[in-house]
Amino acid sequence: MTPPDPRTPRPDRPAAPPLPAIEALHDEHRAMLEHMALFDELVGHLLEDGADGRARELAARVRDFFDIHARAHHAEEERVVFPPLLASTDAELVHDVRRLQQDHGWLEQDWLEIEPQLDAIARGQATCDLALLRDALPIFRRLYEEHIALEEARVYPRARRYHEAQAAADRARGEAAG
Ligand SMILES: [Fe+2]
Ligand SMILES: [Fe+2]
Repeated sequence: MTPPDPRTPRPDRPAAPPLPAIEALHDEHRAMLEHMALFDELVGHLLEDGADGRARELAARVRDFFDIHARAHHAEEERVVFPPLLASTDAELVHDVRRLQQDHGWLEQDWLEIEPQLDAIARGQATCDLALLRDALPIFRRLYEEHIALEEARVYPRARRYHEAQAAADRARGEAAG
């Protein structure tokens, strides 16, 4: 059989649906861990070399990421992922989601303490409390890592199944109506 000519024009097809929100959220976890590594690098750099240009650059990147993207990520989970799971009859799942909600509150508390220090470094101000940053980082990092692990291992798989079942039900309704 002759292979098809790769230059044969392809017919137009309807647009594919957007990447499901849950997959985008999954990808953002990697970005969170990458920025946590930058935060780690920043604290090491501050202890070794002080608040130089590299420290200012790292502080600005870490500040902007957690300020904007991480907060938006948590808000999206609260909006899209958690509500249907909280309505589940699986008590263990509901317990997991409640823990994740508590984590979001604790992460925000920690961030409100950390952010002004990073902002001071990013702006080149001499008011940063290095001891506070050094002590806050391992707690913040551990909470994030455990949080992401729980989401990835137990909660996102359930959310995916729920959204797939919803999509199948929508399709079945569409076919029945068409
Ligand atoms: Fe989360
Ligand atoms: Fe998450």
